[in-house]
Amino acid sequence: MKKEEHRFAYDVYNSVDELSDADAWLVKEARKATATAYAPYSNFNVAAVARLTNGQVVTGTNQENASYPVGICAERVLLGSAASLYPNIPIESMAISYHNNNGISSHPISPCGMCRQSLVEYEERLKQPIRLILSGLDGKVIIVEKADSLLPLSFGSDDLK
Ligand code: THU
Repeated sequence: MKKEEHRFAYDVYNSVDELSDADAWLVKEARKATATAYAPYSNFNVAAVARLTNGQVVTGTNQENASYPVGICAERVLLGSAASLYPNIPIESMAISYHNNNGISSHPISPCGMCRQSLVEYEERLKQPIRLILSGLDGKVIIVEKADSLLPLSFGSDDLK
């Protein structure tokens, strides 16, 4: 038997003001885009805004449904749009923000398990890590250099060979 270890490090900034201009811009776009979420059931508006390696910007917001499980998270709406609009163009960075209409919106949130699985497949597919820039409407910002580090020992296409 041997033990293996998975280390995970990420950067924490006190506010958007400490980010590079490009990252701060993406965060502000994500904060604004929360207004276009459709979340009448949870009142939790999430937005993801990505910068692709060709400089294009793609947005996704959560889209809920009266049949609750039909709802889709902002991140997966974004990945579907990016793959359809710009096939084969990798995502460089994705800012994720939210507006909790029932409570506070000041701490970063990170993608749910299902979105992590989708993000990892997108990284594998286009062979490029996706930087995640996580924040609320204000307060701390967390940067994770690759989505893959949020899903250790993940299941992927190689497992089907
Ligand atoms: N949600 C997202 O869109 N992304 C996340 O990272 C977390 C959760 C959505 C799903 C649902 O519409 C609402 O937020 C509350 O869970």
